Amino acid sequence: MSDNCQCSIIGTGSYMPARVLTNHDLEKLVETSDEWITTRTGIKERRIAAPDETTSDMASEAARRALHTAGIKPEEVDLIIVATVTPDMFFPSTACFVQKKIGATNAVGFDISAACSGFLYALQTARHFLNGGPRKTALVIGAEKLSSLINWTDRNTCVLFGDGAGAAVIRWDDQPDAPGRVISSFMGTDGNLADLLKVPGGGTALPITAENVHLRPNTIHMEGRETFKHAVTRMCQASEKALKEAGLTAQDVKLVIPHQANARIISAIAERLGVPEERTFINLDKYGNTSAATIPVCLDEANRSGRIQRGDILLLVAFGGGFTWASSVIRW
Ligand code: UT7
Repeated sequence: MSDNCQCSIIGTGSYMPARVLTNHDLEKLVETSDEWITTRTGIKERRIAAPDETTSDMASEAARRALHTAGIKPEEVDLIIVATVTPDMFFPSTACFVQKKIGATNAVGFDISAACSGFLYALQTARHFLNGGPRKTALVIGAEKLSSLINWTDRNTCVLFGDGAGAAVIRWDDQPDAPGRVISSFMGTDGNLADLLKVPGGGTALPITAENVHLRPNTIHMEGRETFKHAVTRMCQASEKALKEAGLTAQDVKLVIPHQANARIISAIAERLGVPEERTFINLDKYGNTSAATIPVCLDEANRSGRIQRGDILLLVAFGGGFTWASSVIRW
């Protein structure tokens, strides 16, 4: 049984900044090697935004491309949700800047902070929002400039992350068989494990001061091994929940689009779910972990490359800081 939210994805878009930072480039910054990064994570290179390029710049470009694919004018957008942990500023929200930049004059907008699960949290929020009221068309965006949160002297984290943005146009409709239909969703949170993956400083809990700035509290801190274990467990659970709610099994899934944190996490999930690895989508070799942007960027690349066809069952699944985790089943 699928849930009652009647929404479909009618267009996708993505934008990746031009500058490529390879593993060999990182060998010059910290004590690491292309061999270690490739075998432990699957990442070969990542994109880094220009110094004056903001999260909303990247989000807006991804949004324009998604609107173009959907054949929707900016004025037709009723709602913009940007999932990000790297907003342009504390406020206004990044969604407000996107609204202005793309000319979506009739849209309301706000941001969602759910780290790497952000896009799927935003998708689920948009579905409920569109289902209940007069607004019928939403832009759901995952966009990050994680390079702004990286401690470039910490080899445990600086090799993992990158910048980029992905977007999807979501539309309410009353046709159960509409292409791109989101059939089911699942979300989970466990704040008890917040300390395992966080940017501790820069907020009200730990303001940046002249005394603590040298400790780099405004950069990503992660207990990698613990995070890894929870990521595998929770992404498997979330996958099973959304599939069950959709009345489907892993055998029905044409393509799993997982959060792109580590190729070994993706392999472990595929194995546990019983999905052959060739039915998982991977682009982390090119982009690393772009947090909320990973899933919409993958979806857009899978769509544009012809890897997915109308009618295919897709399983989207994510895990991130919080901890948060989420999944969605889509009939493309
Ligand atoms: O996006 C949200 C979710 N994020 C994730 O799910 C990430 C989950 N975690 C991971 O992907 C992995 O834990 C990492 C890739 C972060 C680390 O891989 P690991 O196999 O768990 O390595 P480790 O942290 O256990 O470290 C093993 C060794 C350590 O050396 P010692 O103590 O054994 O001598 C590290 O210091 O590898 C060392 N190490 C490195 N060596 C070379 C850690 N980072 C590097 C590096 N280059 N960049």
